[in-house]
Amino acid sequence: MKAPNQSLAIEVKGVVKSFKTVQAVKGIDLQIQSGHFVALLGPNGAGKTTLVEMIEGIQKPDSGEILVLGKSWKHHSAELHREIGLCLQETRFIDKLRVIETLRLFAGFYGLRNDRVEEVIDLIGLDDKRKAFVVNLSGGQRQRLALGISLLNRPRLLLLDEPTTGLDPNARREIWVILQKMKSELNTTLVLTTHYMEEAEQLCDHIVIMDQGVILKEGTLNSLLGVGPGYEPTMVTIPFKRTLDDLFTELTGRHLHE
Ligand SMILES: Nc1ncnc2c1ncn2[C@@H]1O[C@H](COP(=O)(O)OP(=O)(O)O)[C@@H](O)[C@H]1O
Ligand SMILES: [Mg+2]
Repeated sequence: MKAPNQSLAIEVKGVVKSFKTVQAVKGIDLQIQSGHFVALLGPNGAGKTTLVEMIEGIQKPDSGEILVLGKSWKHHSAELHREIGLCLQETRFIDKLRVIETLRLFAGFYGLRNDRVEEVIDLIGLDDKRKAFVVNLSGGQRQRLALGISLLNRPRLLLLDEPTTGLDPNARREIWVILQKMKSELNTTLVLTTHYMEEAEQLCDHIVIMDQGVILKEGTLNSLLGVGPGYEPTMVTIPFKRTLDDLFTELTGRHLHE
């Protein structure tokens, strides 16, 4: 048997998945390098959630193989549950619990101490909301709480399904700041599905565009935008484009943690 490639966080080989009459994933091959931030872009119904849930071990492929951190779900599920963090497309909380109680509940599942809860509540910028009932949080705060839960066990690999859909630009940026910190400080591998081009542009090293159950194109932003061979990106040559989100933040004057 061939030894798994250590530099790969995820290997998807010839994966197919159908639901009754719908072939949601039609034979996908994908390799994700350790430490990379990868965006999975595609319209509704493209098969993003199905693919991500198979990587998360929530759904089983009809055929093909998936290795996560070099391991299969079939043989290593307990280890994988400890090593990965996930945030589903919709997170349901217990509305009558407070933020701090919710984090402690999940920390308890992992056998983690309360000081880890304090680290996470700081990281997600919800310290001032620790006593708030979950039902009273804004959409962005709920998503940060969901992200916080997925981070509790210090995952090496984080999978987020549309973590920012429906959030306003400020709330989205707050999520980005947390994720960027995980990349720079913890070298976490991230796979995130999104509808937002600029999210992929700002956050990700590698972009995978899928539709109708297949990968249409993948590569770095520059390679996807057709910047030719021989191009050596530097901080000077990459123009930092001002986006609509920048304008929104400037106009509203609102920043993180307000
Ligand atoms: N549990 C399910 N039962 C039946 N069809 C499903 C199920 N989950 C997904 N599908 C179908 O599979 C296709 C891909 O869905 P999904 O993976 O959710 O796409 P995306 O996340 O890109 O919006 C869609 O046509 C969807 O309707
Ligand atoms: Mg989806």
